[in-house]
Amino acid sequence: MNDSIPQVQIDSLFSAEEIAERTMALAQEIRRAGFTDNVLVVAVLKGSFVFAADLIRALHHANISPLVDFISLSSYRAGTASSGKVTVLRDLETDVAGRDVLLVDDILESGRTLAYAKALIANRGARRVATAVLLEKPGKRAESFEAEFVGFLCPDKFVVGYGMDMGHHFRELPFIGMVVGAD
Ligand code: IMP
Ligand code: MG
Repeated sequence: MNDSIPQVQIDSLFSAEEIAERTMALAQEIRRAGFTDNVLVVAVLKGSFVFAADLIRALHHANISPLVDFISLSSYRAGTASSGKVTVLRDLETDVAGRDVLLVDDILESGRTLAYAKALIANRGARRVATAVLLEKPGKRAESFEAEFVGFLCPDKFVVGYGMDMGHHFRELPFIGMVVGAD
């Protein structure tokens, strides 16, 4: 792994305050869609871990007490370009049969990652599988896939922060930033 911090300019796209407000509203949408204490939140690692951590606390404020598990999928390598193929790096520990599952991811782009995860969980007998994404990049879909809950629409730029990385860096930023000069 190359540990040097990329020397790039990062412009704020969504502030910590905007993210917090939108996350609370998303939890209410999720409750209105009929999710209750039976829900299993599945965070797709690594990029969604900050969003998932805030979303489960927002769900608490919406009176939902979820179970939480993690799956690690890889369709991206350490750079900024997609390799196109999805593999399971770390599987769920929870039996999803009969459960309502809320998949949580950072960005819906080609849709390959989430289409793969949704099919995997549905094939294991989940009763319902819905998806919450922090960001959606419109017009980039390779698979027909719709997320039921979307935080923000995102310009077709490379973004970092709030859990999302560029070459393993910048996950710690409390805001969502746009990398200027990269695609
Ligand atoms: P896709 O929808 O299968 O193309 O994969 C989307 C995944 O690629 C996201 O969950 C991120 O992990 C990663 N990704 C896509 N665009 C970006 C970006 O702008 N910044 C950081 N990660 C990204
Ligand atoms: Mg991801």
